[in-house]
Amino acid sequence: MAAYEYETHEYDVVVVGAGGAGLRATLGMAEQGLRTACVTKVFPTRSHTVAAQGGIAASLSNMGPDHWQWHMYDTVKGSDWLGDTDAMEYLAREAPKAVYELEHYGVPFSRTEEGKIYQRPFGGHTTEFGEGPPVQRTCAAADRTGHAILHTLYGQSLKNNAEFYIEYFAIDLIMSDDGACTGVICWKLDDGTMHVFNAKMVVLATGGYGRAYFSATSAHTCTGDGGGMVARAGLPLQDMEFVQFHPTGIYGSGCLITEGARGEGGYLTNSEGERFMERYAPNYKDLAPRDYVSRSMTMEIREGRGVGDEGDHIHLNLSHLPKEALAERLPGISESAKIFAGVDVTKEPIPVLPTVHYNMGGIPTNYWGEVLNPTDKDPNAVVPGLMAVGEAGCASVHGANRLGSNSLIDLVVFGRAAAIRAGKVVDPESAVPETNTASVDKAFDRFDGLRNAKGTIPTAELRLEMQKTMQADAAVFRTSKTMKEGLDKMIAIAGKMDDLSVTDRSLVWNSDLMETLELTNLMPNALATIAGAEARKESRGAHAHEDFTTRDDDKWRVHTIARVDGNKTDLTYRPVVTDPLTTEDQGGISVEKIKPKERTF
Ligand code: FUM
Repeated sequence: MAAYEYETHEYDVVVVGAGGAGLRATLGMAEQGLRTACVTKVFPTRSHTVAAQGGIAASLSNMGPDHWQWHMYDTVKGSDWLGDTDAMEYLAREAPKAVYELEHYGVPFSRTEEGKIYQRPFGGHTTEFGEGPPVQRTCAAADRTGHAILHTLYGQSLKNNAEFYIEYFAIDLIMSDDGACTGVICWKLDDGTMHVFNAKMVVLATGGYGRAYFSATSAHTCTGDGGGMVARAGLPLQDMEFVQFHPTGIYGSGCLITEGARGEGGYLTNSEGERFMERYAPNYKDLAPRDYVSRSMTMEIREGRGVGDEGDHIHLNLSHLPKEALAERLPGISESAKIFAGVDVTKEPIPVLPTVHYNMGGIPTNYWGEVLNPTDKDPNAVVPGLMAVGEAGCASVHGANRLGSNSLIDLVVFGRAAAIRAGKVVDPESAVPETNTASVDKAFDRFDGLRNAKGTIPTAELRLEMQKTMQADAAVFRTSKTMKEGLDKMIAIAGKMDDLSVTDRSLVWNSDLMETLELTNLMPNALATIAGAEARKESRGAHAHEDFTTRDDDKWRVHTIARVDGNKTDLTYRPVVTDPLTTEDQGGISVEKIKPKERTF
């Protein structure tokens, strides 16, 4: 048994991760007087939310008529009827409150002439339950909305006495013998010390796992750490086969060009200079949802109408927009286009390509953020002491496809919901759970094994093999053959984890070991993704199956539940929640309106 000394900390709540969801949860917990710690592997304002550009969806009606029911309808349709209806109602209903709270906390939103929060159009957000024109629903701080939110929430959390443990890497959850979560074990990266955080509630806000792929808009820190810890604790992941490709990653670097660029009037063209989205989505054109636009771009390239020497990408045109509008509304992407594509957006189009951007799947939760461990008897069974929010979690409001700007609102609505719930279920007067030493020993054994790994494959080499396989075989379009090959390859790749070679044995700033721990987190996320995809014999949202091209609600309107152990993945299914929280006579949406139908734009 590996012996590591550790310091013990006791809190009511420990939040793991300091992005938008983690900070909103931390702030909400601390505001209620709960003793709250936030542990984070990067400095809070460097969390990946800082890269969120275009905005945050809420039906404020600042730019024209809007209603939360329209927002809910668009989210249901955007999800291709895989989202949980109760959670989608909660999201759309609470969104305006959550945004006004952000405004009052100090987020410097862009403003209209009358001083209201500025809102722009984004793909899939419409009026009149999908019958009317696009709506301006996405509240923006220029094209740096995530940056503005993150800085504000960090300042407010400090003001409310939340305690931050910065550059602490979460190794594993501490679980009690009867299946409750009682804390988390962390490695302090800058001095090599070990820390056990015992808590009445652990909140995973660890973000997505975009780095399971070769080309992603996600930061290199997006390694699915929460999903990895959950899988090792014997808990499941949900709907992992649904991976969003953002239509406009810069060709080559994958750097994000916000959908807000199309919201402000930008459009895509092929090698013939044609605005091809008019053919695929006659009503909403470039403002169709992301799965639609990404598939349309891929079709254009496949059919020989891509741009560039190799005909392998598409053009995003902004040069017709007034220079002042570009400078005021899109300064960040104008700079990114210059740096990463050498393009002056006032004169030339930006070369773009669909790029991995977001994971609709994650750790299953209810709409309070409580983690679920579905059983045959109870598909909604809650894991005591554990919550998951933000991209790490799957509430599920995005189902098979997320609408742009529904991510930032997911972060703050569900970060806030987790805090509201914790205020009810966490008793500040009760004792903090004692350390389960068996669970801690097991985690240190795993850590020590990786630290001293003497195999033959460097971490970076195996990671690259995983990333290339996922990129090729769990792509925008998928076939039975590519997914079967991809799954077989991923099983073999995960099987090589026992042959890893770690050369640095130190405990201080050991990036070799940290990247190895991150790879152990990426791997179960990637396996669950390809296994879930291979099994799902239909096309829905971001899962475009070329051998099963239509949606099959009778058989497949179900959530995939994946349990990963080593390189084995066990799949079961859980029903989608189809009932809203409120009925029409209580002011809710008409159930008739949200019944599944063909999804066209
Ligand atoms: O395009 C964007 O600005 C990204 C927004 C989002 O993913 O919600």
